[in-house]
Amino acid sequence: IEVDVSKPTIDLPEHLYGLFFEDINWAADGGLYAELVQNRSFEYFPVAENDPLGKKMVPLFAWEKIGGNPVELSVEETDPLNWNNKHYAKLKSAATAKVGVVNAGFDGIPLDQGASYRVSVFVRTRGWSGNGAITATLLDADGSECGTASLGEATGEWSKLEEEIVSSKTTDQAKLAISTEGSGVIDLDMISLFPKDTYKGRVNGLRKDLVEALADLHPKFLRFPGGCIAHGCGLDNAYRWKDTVGPVEERRPNWNRWGYHQTYGLGFFEYFQLCEDLGMTPLPVVPIGVSCGFTDPYEVVDIENLGEWIDDALDLIEFANGPADSEWGHVRAEMGHPEPFQLEFVCLGNEEHDTPEMRERFPRFVEAMRDRYPDIKIIGTSGLDPEIPIYDLMTREKVHSSDEHYYKDPSWFIAHQDRFDDFDRSKPKIFVGEYASRDKKQINAVAEAAYLTGIERNADLVDMTCYAPLFGRLGHCQWNPDLIYFNHREVVKTPSYHVQRMFASNKGDVYLANTVEVVDPQPQPTVSGTIGLGTWGTAAEFDEIRVNGRRVDPAGWQTARGRFAETAGVFAQTDTEARPAMATGTESYAGEEVTITLKARKVSGAEGFIIAFGGNDGSSWWF
Ligand code: AHR
Repeated sequence: IEVDVSKPTIDLPEHLYGLFFEDINWAADGGLYAELVQNRSFEYFPVAENDPLGKKMVPLFAWEKIGGNPVELSVEETDPLNWNNKHYAKLKSAATAKVGVVNAGFDGIPLDQGASYRVSVFVRTRGWSGNGAITATLLDADGSECGTASLGEATGEWSKLEEEIVSSKTTDQAKLAISTEGSGVIDLDMISLFPKDTYKGRVNGLRKDLVEALADLHPKFLRFPGGCIAHGCGLDNAYRWKDTVGPVEERRPNWNRWGYHQTYGLGFFEYFQLCEDLGMTPLPVVPIGVSCGFTDPYEVVDIENLGEWIDDALDLIEFANGPADSEWGHVRAEMGHPEPFQLEFVCLGNEEHDTPEMRERFPRFVEAMRDRYPDIKIIGTSGLDPEIPIYDLMTREKVHSSDEHYYKDPSWFIAHQDRFDDFDRSKPKIFVGEYASRDKKQINAVAEAAYLTGIERNADLVDMTCYAPLFGRLGHCQWNPDLIYFNHREVVKTPSYHVQRMFASNKGDVYLANTVEVVDPQPQPTVSGTIGLGTWGTAAEFDEIRVNGRRVDPAGWQTARGRFAETAGVFAQTDTEARPAMATGTESYAGEEVTITLKARKVSGAEGFIIAFGGNDGSSWWF
């Protein structure tokens, strides 16, 4: 490697490597957010394409009744705990009986012997005969008790009862029961169970092992809360940050477009706090009044009503940075953080489609933000696939950077390492806010690493990058691959994770121009085997394929999968599928040094070529 220290160098930006967090694949509820009770507030509302549950509320999802026939369990909304959280469980018994509910957790509740858990419930009685004493019990899969706590007595008014409970067993399949004895009506809401051992021991906290896996990546920023969930599948599904702050029982939950339910227990305060804990610059994404263009319904806010959405974006800055006596700074202070969170960036929109509605609305957010908060840096959006021409709007609006996303196969990443070499430096910077190499051959991490070398070479232009998605809970992944897989106890760090960690934890201060000459240090052993040619794409044609100068006779090649054939002297790919890699004909060469020459006639739609060698000794190389 030759490094020319006299050449101008590029300062590698402080925030080059960070994280993108979205509640997909159970990343938040059932994941990072340490709540162990699923559907704690009886508001469960899953929506997803092909969702067997359909587009309707399932308020008793994950719950069962305790008590036989005399006990009725229903969900009501008359005189609720509050109007953001309007459903609650009503238990009614005409005769004295043990009544209650049992929650199955997220695939069971994991418990550790000797560990403490915080249990809480909002409860109210109506015409109750009995003392209203509420008991919390941890039950193992076979129904045996592994912990119990008396929570106190319910009264005729909603009140919160809470206690600590210690588990006598280690299990992954526990359930939580909340029960009492008597007759009449008893109402329950916000039934919650957290391990005491959350990250930093926080109440309403995060799973320690998962936060530690993030900390090990040395991330310098966090983009949150999405992704598609930020702009939503239709406007009522957009992520409105104000619904996610304040006391957890007063947050207004929402359905998750990935097919489950968002409690918003992990909300904007908790995201900012996580940023502070791990030294990450917060990059909150706010919707710009345009819903996700990929999903039905695609909706936009009427221009005359856009003010409320713009105010949300401005108020977010006050929530993060405003003094504790400002309207939204006060909410932050009440949540325990009077000091500002030092917000510097706001991301406007996620992966918006290039529509006239988007083009009309985006500049209004920019103008209002510049007017009120001129120091805030605006990150715009270029959409999915860098070909989407929305960068011109970002250029016109002079945003700090434009967020582009790509999920491609490894050949794309390898072939596009030079993507930024010729970008116009007078235009906005680039934020690679979501990317992942997707392929079944497990060379994703290598392709991502190769791509990152191209980014470091262009780090005067590309100032931030983050992989996506971050988390996938085993058995609940709507999207693969993910950077970190987990279940109740295990955290699996993928090869892509290690690439991220390697680059982030070894980031230099400057990039030095360099040339790399690959010298074969050892004489290569002679191996006999077969060579093959493959292409990705739909329209590759070659006039000639020569091996060691000899024109290949296609008759001697096996046309693997019948997708590569010669007609009238032209070797053509006959595969009509756009994606999968295509095997091709092969020839055997014994003990020869092999040179392959391709004369391409047409390569439109082809994303790359592969030349493969399979040695008879079991070795194989791909170029
Ligand atoms: O990362 C998964 C999804 O991919 C994100 O929600 C979206 O922004 C992108 O299309």
